[in-house]
Amino acid sequence: MVNFMWALFAAFSTVAQAGTIVWDGTFNNFNTVADFDKWSWANQVGTYQWYIHGSNPTSRYLALDPSYKNPAHTNERHGLKMTIDSTATWNSNMERAELIPQTTANLGTGQMYYHFSIKRSNTNAPDSTLEHQIMFFESHFTELKYGVGSRPTNLVWMIGGQERWSTDFTADTWFNFAYDINFSASTVGLWASTGGNPLVKVVNNMAASTSTNSADFHVGVLRIVNTPPPEDWYVSGVYIESGTITTTIGNGSTTPGTTSDGTTAQPPTTTAVPPTATAPATTTTATGPQQTQWGQCGGTGYTGPTSCVSPYTCNAVSPPYYYQCQ
Ligand SMILES: *[C@@H]1O[C@H](CO)[C@@H](O)[C@H](O)[C@H]1NC(C)=O
Ligand SMILES: *[C@@H]1O[C@H](CO)[C@@H](O)[C@H](O)[C@H]1NC(C)=O
Repeated sequence: MVNFMWALFAAFSTVAQAGTIVWDGTFNNFNTVADFDKWSWANQVGTYQWYIHGSNPTSRYLALDPSYKNPAHTNERHGLKMTIDSTATWNSNMERAELIPQTTANLGTGQMYYHFSIKRSNTNAPDSTLEHQIMFFESHFTELKYGVGSRPTNLVWMIGGQERWSTDFTADTWFNFAYDINFSASTVGLWASTGGNPLVKVVNNMAASTSTNSADFHVGVLRIVNTPPPEDWYVSGVYIESGTITTTIGNGSTTPGTTSDGTTAQPPTTTAVPPTATAPATTTTATGPQQTQWGQCGGTGYTGPTSCVSPYTCNAVSPPYYYQCQ
């Protein structure tokens, strides 16, 4: 009987989902962006913590709309547009719009797949001359970057600040990813696809300092240098799964092999990264020690504190090499 029940459960659970969703970061539970403001340190409700953002109203930095999601995510009501500009500073002079999981689940044990899709358009396009950190962990053991390395117009996947894979971040294309993290083995690999195509593994698991306190996965973007032009980043399909990976995008109802615009899709074009490639090791730790006035708080190769003691902020004195608390 037990075996029969297990088999029945397994049969049902594999219909649409290969693994178990341990945290659902889709934006289905948010009707308007005002719902993100319901979260506070004193009232930790919903699926996202929302505190890493500028001082203007949330509607300046976040917007929800069906047109902001990957259309292949048929199980999602709408996607999120995240906007950063010179007002989007938090705890430093860097521009940030980042959501953090709000959950009691352990997101850092066993085998986990961190799923998300991102897009840019040519309107308020990200500036490829500036470093961006995207969908990163506090320790930066894995993350995406834009505006770095030998091909700054590429979206670059990194392990511990080392380039491991990259793809041309073309406008109006949805890029789907899953960070394949084995917290038991301390390894991370990468799955990727575009449009409605199923995820394929593009980098096998490699050693990494995998760790999370389940409240330090940054769903969003950080621009290192503070400049006025706004940038829009589109995010959808965020969820974390344990067990076996689901490779379909959404519930798989989009025909594999075609993109949402009907063209035949290919896996993302990748760029081989020379083994010697080293990325700027700028860190963005939000907690822990703070730098004092006139101390360094960022820059290539710098690994110390990146936030400043009050009331000072971290300023780009000689970007990307030197940032100082002033
Ligand atoms: C996929 O999701 C959409 C929207 O929720 C639904 O209409 C459709 O029936 C689903 N398809 C499958 C195969 O489950
Ligand atoms: C994760 O690592 C553990 C320990 O090395 C190993 O037993 C397990 O098979 C790995 N899981 C996957 C999915 O590779």
